[in-house]
This record gives sequence, structure tokens and C-alpha cells, in this order.
Amino acid sequence: MKVLITGGTGFIGSNISIELESKNYDVTVLDDFSSGNFKNLLGYTGDIITCSIKDLDLKNISEFDVIFHQAAITDTTVHNQKIMMETNTEDFKKLLKFSVENEIKFIYASSAATYGNASSPQKEENAGYPNNIYGFSKWVCDCIAKKYMAKNPDSHIVGLRYFNVFGPREQYKGKMASMIWQLLQQMQNGEKPRIFEFGEQKRDQVYVKNIVDINLLAMKSKHNCIVNACSGNAVSFNEIISTLNESLGYNYEPEYIKNPYSEFYQDHTEGSLDLANKFLGYTPKWNFKEGVIDYINWLKENNYI
Ligand SMILES: NC(=O)c1ccc[n+]([C@@H]2O[C@H](COP(=O)([O-])OP(=O)(O)OC[C@H]3O[C@@H](n4cnc5c(N)ncnc54)[C@H](O)[C@@H]3O)[C@@H](O)[C@H]2O)c1
Repeated sequence: MKVLITGGTGFIGSNISIELESKNYDVTVLDDFSSGNFKNLLGYTGDIITCSIKDLDLKNISEFDVIFHQAAITDTTVHNQKIMMETNTEDFKKLLKFSVENEIKFIYASSAATYGNASSPQKEENAGYPNNIYGFSKWVCDCIAKKYMAKNPDSHIVGLRYFNVFGPREQYKGKMASMIWQLLQQMQNGEKPRIFEFGEQKRDQVYVKNIVDINLLAMKSKHNCIVNACSGNAVSFNEIISTLNESLGYNYEPEYIKNPYSEFYQDHTEGSLDLANKFLGYTPKWNFKEGVIDYINWLKENNYI
């Protein structure tokens, strides 16, 4: 089966690409390298189309059976609304339309940012009031996908609302990498890990191997759907630090800093797993602690720590 992974040199796309290749899929990556890095694909032996989606001649991707669309501006602090919408929404529309017209399975990355301040557990029907242009760009993708699903019941479209993903190959995201990576870096540098007062805000932290699994399930889905891709559990920032201390043999106390965004800040994200379980048969295999231990082992094996 021929699969195309847009954003395949990025964090999540590279994990999907490497896993699919190991399962003998015929994998091609498409990326403009704007936030990805070739080092994420060391060991990968497939083709790479080096191109921005906006410039892509769709004739070049007509032979694919499945598209995993991961490419996007992932820096959530980008405020240029036009650029964000052009990349995250217009490029998405271009690929979605082409996929449906050519009977290509289309699996795409949406985001928990579509929920804004919706209360936990976040259920799929509660999205739609995002706090920033990034969340809005993803929300519009979901709205368009729903229309395509309704008009084309024989199509194969799955939207996955990723929550806070962490794990191998995220390090090239810099300031956009997960809090697990950021706090780990601070501890590795001999600094106290810095978090907002008083560390009890919680996030649904989901290990990237769970995200790869749900993408594979989405490829085999019998239902068009948009579902949460999450762990179903919220972890506080204090718990992240204690798990890292335990896993690395450290004993760092957190340094609490004032939260300058407290007005907009989400205190608790925790995705509901119900629909992902119902439509895709997804239950996360890795819990938070298991994910952190596996991640740290990978970082050690690859000389990142
Ligand atoms: N990491 C998370 O916690 C998280 C959470 C929610 C949603 N998502 C979504 O998951 C997807 C993957 O995110 P990630 O964390 O791997 O980020 P990433 O920045 O590592 O990956 C994005 C990739 O897309 C590529 N890209 C960007 N614009 C492109 C374009 N116009 N044409 C071709 N390639 C382009 C980049 O070079 C990069 O390789 C994104 O759609 C993101 O919005 C991620």
C-alpha cells in the first residue's frame, strides 16, 4: 500500500513514517522542512518530496492509497492570521478535495486547541471556541471535513484531535516541544524546572506511540469521524516533574513563576476517549509514566541525554 505522509520530517510525521516503513508500507514523505529536520528520518529509506503543499502539483500524488496529513504551522504563537489559515486550512482543503475525488484515504491531524476553554473531559461536540488562530485554523478544517463526510459517505476521512503529544523526535520543535522535553532540558542543565504557580494545572499528555497507533487504526477505520487522540488522563505539571525526577534519579524542586497568560490559560485538559474507542477501537497502550520511561530510554540510546 502506498502512503504519503505530509509533514513527515516533523515530530509526529516522522514517527508515523518510520513505523509504517517498518511494517512494509511503501512510504513517501512530503515536507518543506519549515519546522521538520532530516535527523528525524535517519534510518528511513523511502522517498521524500521536498515541496510546500501550496506549490504541490497534485498529479504527483495521485498514485497514493492513503494520505496522513500532518503538515501545518505548529508554532501556536504565530499571530499572522493569513499565513496560518493559508498553510493550515487552505493546504488542508486542497489535499482533502483531491483525496475524496481520487478515492484516497485521508487521515489528518486536528488539535485539542479547537476546544479553547471547554470544560473537561473535552468531548468532540464541545469544540468550536478556540483561543488562538492556530486552534481556529484547525477548527475550520474539522468543519470542512464534516461537510465532505456528509456529502461523500463512501469516502474515508478521519480527523484526529491530538492533545499534548510528547516523545521521540520532538526536539527540533524548540520552544514548541512538549513540557516534558522542556523540563527535562532544564534539569539536565542543572537548573530547577520552571513551571507556572503552583503546578497543579493539568494537561492530557499523550505519548507519541499512542498517536502512531491511532493513525494506523484510522487507516483501517470503517467510519468517517473526527475524534480525540488523547490519553484520557490529565497530568499536573508537578506530576511531570516528579515523574522525571523518579525516572532520571534526580531530586529537583520546581521553581514556580507567575503565569502571564492566566486570563486565557487552560487549567485542565483531558480528552474523552469514548468516540475514539467507539469508532476506531482505540485505547492508549502507553500511560504517562510508561511513556516517559520509554522516551528517556530512547533519548539515552540516541545520545540526546
Ligand atoms: N505535537 C502536538 O502536541 C500536537 C498537538 C495537536 C496537533 N498537532 C498537529 O500535528 C501535526 C504534526 O505536528 P508536529 O508536532 O509533528 O509538528 P512539527 O512542526 O514537528 O511538524 C510539522 C511538519 O510540517 C511541515 N510543514 C509545515 N508547513 C508545510 C507545508 N506548507 N508544506 C509541507 N510541509 C510543511 C514542517 O516542516 C514539519 O516537518 C500538525 O498538524 C499539528 O498541528 C500536534
